Amino acid sequence: MFGADVYVERRSRLKEQVQSGLILFLGNEESPMNYPDNQYSFRQDSSFLYFFGLDFPGLAAVIDIDQGKECVFGNDLTVDDIIWMGPQPALKEKCSAIGVSETAKFDKLQPVLKKVTEQSRPVHILPSYRAQSTLKIAELLGIPPAKVQERVSETLIRAVVAQRSLKSKGEIEQIEAALDVSYEMQTMAMKMSRPGMLEMEIVGAMEGIAISRGCRLAFPTIFSIRGEILHNHYYGNVMKQGDIAINDSGAETNLGYASDISRMIPVSGKFSQRQKEIYTIVLNAQERAIEMVRPGVEFRQIHLLACKSLASGLKDLGLMKGDIEEAVHAGAHTLFFQCGLGHMLGLDVHDMEGLGEDYVGYTDTIRRNPEFGWRSLRLGRALEAGFVITVEPGIYFIPELISRWMAEKKNAQYINYDMVKKYEDFGGLRVEDDVLVTENGHRVLGRKIPKTIDEVEDMSSG
Ligand code: GLY
Ligand code: MN
Repeated sequence: MFGADVYVERRSRLKEQVQSGLILFLGNEESPMNYPDNQYSFRQDSSFLYFFGLDFPGLAAVIDIDQGKECVFGNDLTVDDIIWMGPQPALKEKCSAIGVSETAKFDKLQPVLKKVTEQSRPVHILPSYRAQSTLKIAELLGIPPAKVQERVSETLIRAVVAQRSLKSKGEIEQIEAALDVSYEMQTMAMKMSRPGMLEMEIVGAMEGIAISRGCRLAFPTIFSIRGEILHNHYYGNVMKQGDIAINDSGAETNLGYASDISRMIPVSGKFSQRQKEIYTIVLNAQERAIEMVRPGVEFRQIHLLACKSLASGLKDLGLMKGDIEEAVHAGAHTLFFQCGLGHMLGLDVHDMEGLGEDYVGYTDTIRRNPEFGWRSLRLGRALEAGFVITVEPGIYFIPELISRWMAEKKNAQYINYDMVKKYEDFGGLRVEDDVLVTENGHRVLGRKIPKTIDEVEDMSSG
C-alpha cells in the first residue's frame, strides 16, 4: 500500500472535481470458478484500489462530498471465518492506514444511500463489469439490475479517468517494478525456448517467475508460435525449428500495477531471412512511433505514422504497392495491422477500460474512427506528461482475412496478393514497450529487454 497521505490526497482531488453528492465505490467480491468455495484469485476493483487501497473482498466506500464525510463499509471476520482464513486486522485498523476514520458494517450502507436519494442528492457510481457488482448496486439503490447502467455518473467517470491517467512517481515505480519482473520473464523465455518444447512449458515457467517475485500475471499470457492470432491463449503447440514465438506477457505488482511487453523469440535461436525482414519493418515502426511520443501529440497521429511506416516497409518487400499515403488512407494496411498501436497502462493492463474506452482514449473533439483497424485503436487523444502507454505495432498474416480480401479484390491497387499468398503461413509478430510521457518527450520504462535482432539472438539459446 502507499502511505495514507496518498489516498487522502487522491480523494480530496476527486471531491474537488465531482463537487457535490455522494460517491459510492464498490469493491469486488470473491468470484467462484466452479463451485462457491473454489475461487479465482481475488482481484480488487482498480478504482477502489486507487482511492481506498484496501485489497480485501466485501467492501464498499462512500465519499459524501456535501457533508465532508468518508466511510468504509464492511464486516470484520467472525471466528468461523478466522478458522479458515486466519486472523486479519479489524476494518478500523485497515482504514487508519488509508486515512479513513469512519467505518460501519456493510448492512448500514443501504440506509445511507436511501437517505441521500430521499434528499434528492446524486449518488455517483462507476460502471460495473461484474454481474455480481451490478446486482449489489441494484439492491443497494433499490432499482432493477437493468437500470444500473443508466445510473452511472459521467461526472465521476471523467473525474476518475482524469486523475488515474496521470501517473505519480510512486505509480511509475510500481510499473517499473512490474517491468523488472517482465525482464526476467522475457529473457528466461528467450533462453529456455527451443525446438521440441511445448509453449506451455514456457508459459508455466514465466508464471512461476511472476509468483516467486510476489507478483501475479497482469493478464493471461499470450505465448504462441501462432502470433497472428492476436489474443491467443492456447499453449499446446510444439515449437519447431524455424518457428518464431510471440511472448506478450506482463506482471502485476502486489499493489496492482501492470507491465505489458511483447517480444518475438526465434525458437531455433536465429531468425530466418524472411522473419528478419518482417521483424525489421515492425521494429522500425515501433521505434519511429516511440520517437513521436511527447505531450500534445495525438496518439492517433502516432498510430497513423506507424501504419505508414509498416506499409512502406511492406511495399519495399513487395507485399504492398502504390502510393503509401493513399494506401493507408484507404485502409489497405489493415490487412496486416488490424488493431491499434497501444493503450494506457496502470492499475489495469488496458488502463480504466472498465470505465469506458472512449472516456479514456478519446475526447469530445477527438472521436474514435469506426473503420476496420482504426476502430480497435483504444487511444486517440493528445498525450499528456504523466501518461503511461504501450506502443505495440505488429504485422499479422491472417489466412482467413487474406482469403476474404483476395476474393473481394479489396484494395487490390495497393496489395500484391500473389506475394501475400506466399506469406500466408508466416504467422504474425509484434513488438511492445511501455512508455512514460515526460514533460519534454518520453522515457521507455524498465530495464532494456533485448529487442534488436542481434540482442534477441544473443539471448536466445535455441
Ligand atoms: N497485452 C495484451 C493487449 O495489450 O491486448
Ligand atoms: Mn498491450
